[in-house]
Amino acid sequence: MNAVIRAVTRVAEREHGIEVLGFLDGWAGVLEKRYVTLDVEGLRGTLPRGGTILGTSRSNPSMYAGGLENAVANLDALGCDGLIVIGGDGTLACANHAAELGASVVGVPKTIDNDVAGTEQTFGFNTAVQIATDLIDRLHTTAESHDRVMVVEVMGRHVGHVATHAGIAGGAALTLVPEHPFDISEVCRRLQRRHDKGRYASIVVVAEGAQPVPGTLDVPDGAVDQWGHKILGGMGALVGAAISERTGFESRVTVLGHVQRGGTPTAFDRVLCTRFGAAAIDAAVDGDWGTMVALQSDSIVRIPLADVVGVEKPISEELYHGVAVRFFA
Ligand code: F6P
Repeated sequence: MNAVIRAVTRVAEREHGIEVLGFLDGWAGVLEKRYVTLDVEGLRGTLPRGGTILGTSRSNPSMYAGGLENAVANLDALGCDGLIVIGGDGTLACANHAAELGASVVGVPKTIDNDVAGTEQTFGFNTAVQIATDLIDRLHTTAESHDRVMVVEVMGRHVGHVATHAGIAGGAALTLVPEHPFDISEVCRRLQRRHDKGRYASIVVVAEGAQPVPGTLDVPDGAVDQWGHKILGGMGALVGAAISERTGFESRVTVLGHVQRGGTPTAFDRVLCTRFGAAAIDAAVDGDWGTMVALQSDSIVRIPLADVVGVEKPISEELYHGVAVRFFA
């Protein structure tokens, strides 16, 4: 996010003399008029820094009666000519709603889940895949030494982009994703067949949002956050326990969790963020409001926010069945 903020500010200040305000903690900052003034000098050194110097939150203005209307009124009161909104599906849905209320907004797609439609990649995804792959690499040696099944739970709420990419890159025996409910009996049968061939350890990558075929494995109900999103986590433990119980293989579960969202972004993500940031301020200067910048065929394009909101972007068949499942050893 810092690389996007930096790019927006550089182009705004240097090319157009536009003053940039950075709202603190996402929509919460807009609702509470909490912001800082950004300039090129103050943003030095932020390019390789992960996270966001502005802070973020899961605050959702649509949760309060008149919340979004207040946010739009605050932008007017502060004299903002436009708002660049950096976020995933929930944040961009709010941005679109704000646009419908008359706000001048441009969206930038951010989520490690890579589940925003209209863009081949969201930023953060490449970094998360690289971190997950590095950690899976480390699990191989200990898995082999102990002849264990290592279950690795990665992020991925509705989609298995991180799981599938990290599973392929990390040489996972099996990858379970939300798009394709799994049958635990089939999972165990496949692992049994693999281990019957000799002393093989197995890595099983499980997206946190992966679900069993209904009625095949009990899944406890979870709590929900302010956006109504289920607080996930625990599918890896369920799968690991079921594998041990049904096959007798020793299993261990590693939940990668928020390490996938932390630390230094990859070079790819820094480049993508810089391109997205520059394109977003260009769209604002052109008055091309209600759009989102997107990566398509290695070009940055602008697409209507309304075309993106609520649209799913599942993992492709070619990548999941054509590669991840096909290379099951
Ligand atoms: O939406 C992106 C994401 O990283 C999901 O993969 C994950 O389920 C969720 O955020 C975690 O949210 P929080 O940081 O609020 O725990």
